[in-house]
Amino acid sequence: MAGPDMDMVEIVINGKNISVKAGRPLLETCLSNGIYIPNLCHVEGMTSPPASCRLCFIEVEGIPAPVPSCVTTVEPGMVVSTDTAAVRKLQRTALKLLLSVHDIDCRNCPVNRKCPLQQIARFLKIGLKSAPFETRLKKDLLDDRHPFFNYYPNRCVLCGRCVYLCHRKNGYPKISFAGRGFGAFIRIDLPLPDDAVSCHECRECATSCPVAALRLK
Ligand code: SF4
Ligand code: SF4
Ligand code: FES
Repeated sequence: MAGPDMDMVEIVINGKNISVKAGRPLLETCLSNGIYIPNLCHVEGMTSPPASCRLCFIEVEGIPAPVPSCVTTVEPGMVVSTDTAAVRKLQRTALKLLLSVHDIDCRNCPVNRKCPLQQIARFLKIGLKSAPFETRLKKDLLDDRHPFFNYYPNRCVLCGRCVYLCHRKNGYPKISFAGRGFGAFIRIDLPLPDDAVSCHECRECATSCPVAALRLK
């Protein structure tokens, strides 16, 4: 007979006792237990999450300030809150910052109604266009230099999923971040080695982009 699973520990999330796997990121733990936390840059199974979108904050008893749940792992006896006022404040600020570099044109967008930005804005109860931050759109509307897909810089929210998944699948990134701060963008014109898996067969970057910034031609 199988004994008890030694990896499982008890923690409290939003006042409920839950038995969960030790060492797993709290973001994945909460999501798989039906507790939604806004998130954009995390991919299931990531070993070193970039924690770049700053959306997935939670509070953990004993830690003075909210922490990103994608880089905080389960420890026995943790007491976690996903819905405090401090958490929501940070999440709203993070979303508004993302929206300040994003061209909000839902009616003409391929992911309209399937879009995580729309879902997160609804969850946080903020209007997509009500962000008080200055909009910083880029001059270039389209980079079509790649043979198989187009890049739309003003849709890109720099979550990094495309770069991470390209690297994970192919062993090295065929696309990368370039530039800094609000001027950052995804470079799609890197030289490809001869043995590169054909982007045409892979398509991981375009299918993983949550906001239609990378689109197959
Ligand atoms: S990515 Fe989402 S928020 Fe942005 S324009 Fe498209 S549907 Fe609207
Ligand atoms: S192109 Fe898409 S997946 Fe890549 S960083 Fe931009 S928003 Fe994220
Ligand atoms: S999902 Fe944690 S910071 Fe993006």
